[in-house]
Amino acid sequence: MKEKISNLEKLREEAQLGGGLDKIKSQHEKGKLTARERIQLLVDEGSFQELDMFVKHRSYDFGLDNQKYLGDGVVTGFAKINGRQVAIFSQDFTVFGGSLSETHAEKICKVMDMAVKIGIPVIGLNDSGGARIQEGVVSLGGYADIFLRNTLASGVIPQISAVLGPCAGGAVYSPAITDFVFMVKHTSHMFVTGPNVVKTVTHEEVSFEDLGGAETHASKSGVAHFVFDSEVEVIENLRKLFGFLPLNWKDSAPEKEFDFTKDLTEAKLDSIIPEHPNKPYDMKEIISLLLDDGDFLEVHENYAQNIIVGFGRVGGLSVGVIANQPQILAGVLDINSSVKGARFIRFCDAFNIPLLVLEDVPGFLPGTEQEWNGIIRHGSKLLFAFCEATVPKVTVITRKAYGGAYDVMNSKHIRGDFNFAWPSAEIAVMGPKGAVEIIFKKEISASKNHEEKLNEKLSEYVEKFTNPYIAAERGYIDEVIIPRETRMKIVQAFQLLKTKVDTNPKKKHCNIPL
Ligand code: HXC
Repeated sequence: MKEKISNLEKLREEAQLGGGLDKIKSQHEKGKLTARERIQLLVDEGSFQELDMFVKHRSYDFGLDNQKYLGDGVVTGFAKINGRQVAIFSQDFTVFGGSLSETHAEKICKVMDMAVKIGIPVIGLNDSGGARIQEGVVSLGGYADIFLRNTLASGVIPQISAVLGPCAGGAVYSPAITDFVFMVKHTSHMFVTGPNVVKTVTHEEVSFEDLGGAETHASKSGVAHFVFDSEVEVIENLRKLFGFLPLNWKDSAPEKEFDFTKDLTEAKLDSIIPEHPNKPYDMKEIISLLLDDGDFLEVHENYAQNIIVGFGRVGGLSVGVIANQPQILAGVLDINSSVKGARFIRFCDAFNIPLLVLEDVPGFLPGTEQEWNGIIRHGSKLLFAFCEATVPKVTVITRKAYGGAYDVMNSKHIRGDFNFAWPSAEIAVMGPKGAVEIIFKKEISASKNHEEKLNEKLSEYVEKFTNPYIAAERGYIDEVIIPRETRMKIVQAFQLLKTKVDTNPKKKHCNIPL
């Protein structure tokens, strides 16, 4: 027995080395951690239970029969993050560049299948040269097996991807189907075709970084939800994100202890809205005053910054925040911000995370660029996502709620549970100037002094419509509140809504306007 145990121990040691010490050295020289080092940083100490450590590939072509490595380029298993279970796969670039073989794919599929049965999230740490070229179609089949599982698991368990190296070709679609994508500046790359193919096909010259680096995907394409300077920061923030999420769609997110006896008044909120209605202010200041400890994990921080989305806690409960940002494009809704908001709302709704909506929106962005690219189609995604969401939904209108955007941003009419407005709220079909120019067009042009007439009508309109009271008279606003009371109001609202039940009609699935 002794000999057998020592033999097993030797095999385990061999597996720990992946593609060998030279390859590990080269991985470190590129500023990257190994698959196992990443897992070690991510999970609670000593909690990792590995599966399939001795799996080897089954290929014979191109001399592969002489090159076999234990584990075949991916480390898989289960672990805990802050005491909560998670399934993990971590691709090992030291073995054939982390490329995906038949067996490598089988290992990932096994851990995903188990995660769905157990009801725990999957975190994938991706670092791979893509399909194992020597295996041909078998490795493509392996990818398809993973894509299918990503899709079937969507909305059942949270799926989080960190792209920590190359990720090219169709391989990008597995992370893209998952709920969140993390990238590291300079070492992560994602593209459907690399710079050389781009040059051949479109004659464009572009670097790896510009084409598919972390900053490109964080600010231009929106593929990456989170971008950090180092792998260590990525992993720290993966752990943080995990803390806001439930384990599966039937579970609720972990609740933190909260002292309900403490004073929840935030006097600073009274002085944030500028006197002039067109002057910008930073909605993030309001967000941090409303959330517990001011702690906000922003998602898509650098993409479509006219809307802000992210996670925080209110009264100890995990919430998803969706807020217009008056500081960027006056907080207008355009194509990218609508899609960003819709995707986030649907994630929160799928996983029982209540929504806090902070509204200051002048409407949808006009113009040919937006119309021709489909602001109608994309804007409707945001509307659809708010309409179908059945989680607790609380809205606070801080200033503008104009036109269709009033309806869209979780109005009472589309099942907002508590809709509060500050006294500075302006709830109207459109902004005063545009409105007056339309409805008093004849009167203004008939008057001797156009300017004077316009101003007179403007004051009349502002007096009558740009306030929250007409909406409050009809019950479209549940309560007009003093800004300093907001934190207390939302804490109370989310506590009350903890037992909320709402459903949608039974169907195969909805048909969100894609
Ligand atoms: C087999 C691979 C491999 C692959 C890398 N390697 N990619 N082996 N299949 N796809 C091996 C290399 O031969 C090398 O082995 C080792 O991994 C490290 O690779 P290097 O090239 O030395 O590393 P680096 O310079 O860092 O470049 C990494 C790389 C490059 C950018 C990923 O290797 C590369 O371009 N690989 C090919 C990428 C690709 O075109 N993949 C197919 C995409 S299509 P040795 O033994 O020399 O150390 C695809 C389809 C999926 O994936 C479709 C799903 C639907």
